Amino acid sequence: MVVLLVNGSPNKNGHTARALKTVEDELHVHGVDAAWFQIGTKMVRGCIGCNKCEEACRCAFTDDKCNDMIDAIAQADAVVIGSPVYFAGPNGALCALLDRVFYAACAHKRLFRGKPAAALTTCWRAGGVAAIDRLNKYFLYSEMPIVSSKYWNMNFMDNDSFGTDVLRQLAGNMTEMLKK
Ligand SMILES: Cc1cc2nc3c(=O)[nH]c(=O)nc-3n(C[C@H](O)[C@H](O)[C@H](O)COP(=O)(O)O)c2cc1C
Repeated sequence: MVVLLVNGSPNKNGHTARALKTVEDELHVHGVDAAWFQIGTKMVRGCIGCNKCEEACRCAFTDDKCNDMIDAIAQADAVVIGSPVYFAGPNGALCALLDRVFYAACAHKRLFRGKPAAALTTCWRAGGVAAIDRLNKYFLYSEMPIVSSKYWNMNFMDNDSFGTDVLRQLAGNMTEMLKK
């Protein structure tokens, strides 16, 4: 079993990557593999509502990572999407990508239906919960069961031992759901 870890930060090795690594380490403890998807720093287009994705579940724009992300999520058994908090929401570039990924994959054909999913955020001080709520909307729309932990999956940048514990619990709960 493979859980896809999407780093929605432009920083490949930043706080969001570290939070996702915590999830990865705990998944390994439970015998579950992980794969990574970095959104990176290149330009990302927004959805233009052309509906050309209707037939093939693919975005008509092929000059960014949208279709690669559709394939990566489709191939994984579950997905965890992490984002830094920007102005009390997820990273705008990540949302631009996810609007197209989830619209192309799930508006017409429900490609991700039934795949367990979770969102996590990292922040300096505040806005983590609002950002998680926004990310969860992609899963709710796509009929994906949201895996919970014992608190919100938000992490502060430094010395957040409770936040780390929450992410470990998330990985444990994800494993349990995958094995059921
Ligand atoms: C444009 C921008 C907006 C931000 N807005 C917030 C915010 O609203 N609340 C907060 O606590 N931190 C905010 N931060 C801090 C980041 O969320 C925090 O540093 C995050 O952990 C960075 O993750 P990364 O290292 O994976 O990129 C902001 C940072 C940037 C660059």
